[in-house]
Amino acid sequence: AQPDLVAELLKATVAAVDVPVSLKIRTGVDAQQINALAIARIAEDAGISLLSIHGRHRAQRYEGQAEYDTIAQVVDVVDIPVLANGDIDSPAKARSVLDHTGAAGIMIGRAALGRPWLFAQIKAALNGLPAPPTPQPHEILALLQKQLTAIYQHYGEQTGVRIARKHWKWYSKQLDIDDAAGFNRLQTASEQHQWLLACAENQITKPNR
Ligand SMILES: Cc1cc2nc3c(=O)[nH]c(=O)nc-3n(C[C@H](O)[C@H](O)[C@H](O)COP(=O)(O)O)c2cc1C
Repeated sequence: AQPDLVAELLKATVAAVDVPVSLKIRTGVDAQQINALAIARIAEDAGISLLSIHGRHRAQRYEGQAEYDTIAQVVDVVDIPVLANGDIDSPAKARSVLDHTGAAGIMIGRAALGRPWLFAQIKAALNGLPAPPTPQPHEILALLQKQLTAIYQHYGEQTGVRIARKHWKWYSKQLDIDDAAGFNRLQTASEQHQWLLACAENQITKPNR
């Protein structure tokens, strides 16, 4: 870890732009070098406005489980808002991580892939409201179609069709569809669209959550 370099980079970034700058970090380099507290203080001094922390150190990659004690310690020592991140995949987990860390909010990555309704479910639960139900398969396919249309528009069809494949992989898990390669062979937006329609019509899908 090079704290002086971190300070230099953060100060330069904050000075270079007119918008608030947020920072995302892990808990440290490895189990012997948990430095989130030191980096958080440096970030705050450098003018960072919001700090997100993934509760794993770098050497862990995605192995093991995220820990939230370090995040709680950071929340105690800095005044800027801290977002807790790592392995949050349900309303109950969101509540427990917020309670444990005292964080200002949470950040969710993998659990929302192919499952964007998770945010509304967590938000409702945190507000003491009934969680909106998980969409039915035909609704999920319609949602994916809408998302893919936006992807084609944003990236153009050629790139969009390729980007669509990873989203299909994530959504198809939610739909419990075993389709290792079928969708990946499709070469146009129209073919992908037809594929989703066929899935809906064949009703080969069932919700698994
Ligand atoms: C597809 C994908 C892309 C990601 N890209 C970034 C990134 O650009 N910068 C970053 O700091 N973390 C990135 N991450 C890591 C996540 O922000 C997050 O810290 C990590 O996945 C742990 O949170 P989770 O358990 O909710 O997924 C990415 C994760 C995924 C799954």
